[in-house]
Amino acid sequence: MDEDTTKERVTMDEITALAKRRGFIFQSSEIYGGIGGFYDYGPLGAALKRNVKDAWWRETVEIRDDVVPFDSSIIMHPDTWKASGHIDQFHDRMVDCKICKHRFRMDHLKSTEQCPDCGSKNSFTEPRNFNLMLRTFVGPMEDTASTAYLRPETAQGIFVNFKNIYQTARKRPPFGIAQIGKSFRNEITPGNLTFRVREFEQAELEYFVPDDGGDLEVFKAWVERRKMWYSKFGVKSERLRFYELTAEERPHYAKAGIDVEYLFPWGWGELESIAHRGTYDLDAHMHLSGKDLQFFDEANKKKYTPILIESSAGMDRTTLTMLIDAYEKERSTDPNGKETERVVLHFHPMIAPVQVAVFSLARNKPELVDRARGIEERLRGKFRTQYDEGNIGQLYRRQDEIGTPYCVTVDYDSLTDQTVTVRERDSMRQERISIDALAAYLRQNIDWP
Ligand code: GAP
Repeated sequence: MDEDTTKERVTMDEITALAKRRGFIFQSSEIYGGIGGFYDYGPLGAALKRNVKDAWWRETVEIRDDVVPFDSSIIMHPDTWKASGHIDQFHDRMVDCKICKHRFRMDHLKSTEQCPDCGSKNSFTEPRNFNLMLRTFVGPMEDTASTAYLRPETAQGIFVNFKNIYQTARKRPPFGIAQIGKSFRNEITPGNLTFRVREFEQAELEYFVPDDGGDLEVFKAWVERRKMWYSKFGVKSERLRFYELTAEERPHYAKAGIDVEYLFPWGWGELESIAHRGTYDLDAHMHLSGKDLQFFDEANKKKYTPILIESSAGMDRTTLTMLIDAYEKERSTDPNGKETERVVLHFHPMIAPVQVAVFSLARNKPELVDRARGIEERLRGKFRTQYDEGNIGQLYRRQDEIGTPYCVTVDYDSLTDQTVTVRERDSMRQERISIDALAAYLRQNIDWP
């Protein structure tokens, strides 16, 4: 039977409460009442998101010799967005309910007859197009000539730099360009915590291939690599699906397209889109700029426009997925017959914000505190560590709830036998390890998959 039907799923209320209580995610500018569609990452959330980005970067760029890193500006020449089609076509259709004044995206409505919020019949305004790009002005004047846009995707920065990059990096197709950066969309209905927001981060890989007929194979290989990535970092496969877009659902120039979707507490939601984009993007920029962005193949003296395979993943959505997917409320009965409950986040050790917590069993015993602090200090820099002291049950509970895979406790025996207790989060197994062997033991268990 499907795991999700037998186990109790976390609710978004529980995730939001945990995120706030432990310092993963806060509403942006909360003291002023917040601002819709914007969030801040607290200390643990910032670490979690950085680890998710590092995991993507490592697998997509660092362990490969055919992908180069890139970092483009958020504000670009406005013609970029004319060429890409965003100015003319990056619209959502929206309607307002004339009774309750709530606003909806047409494609999110089950019926266009009845308002889902107040139940009024035939209360919607005529649908209007709403451009999703956020606008600003560059320079001292605020007029059409100085209007600029906050990028709605990072990809265009890569396309317009294609020639700069392949020439300076001395690359030839097949090769890729990767970038992680902020994007902005003035979403009509932001919601579900950081799932749909107005400021978010994308991790985009643009992979350029020769027009020699091998493009679909490259597309399939990237889909497999992305599947592997989610599985390596522990996302449950039964909550992940790779939805293949039909010819009607894909743009006319695309030979294939896949949406990676996760089963969130409210249903399936998109994490990433993997797309075959043909030569559409480079063609569009060549057309409007009049500049040559083709690749000249010295070997056979042939000039051509490379075909593009894109993998575009939302880092906020992936971070939220890691948080939700890792969450478990375990119920058990202790030896006295008492029902106990523990909330645990089963993060992969490389994704966990804190990897090793070091405890002193007692707060007011300087010899224990000094020893524990010394151990934590030596592990710091090798691992993401945290020092704490006090009631061991409470310390374990707190670390379980933030997903720390290893807890190390210094007790009175440690002072004489030079060993510590290491407790593993998921199995709750405890073993005594010599202090000298501790770093090597942890390194064996905390490493990239
Ligand atoms: N360059 C291709 C592109 O931008 P997309 O499907 O529009 O494709 C890619 O966006 C990913 O960016 C999405 O799968 C999602 O994870 C993330 N994303 C898009 N809009 C978002 C939003 N409003 N809030 C959070 N993430 C978003």
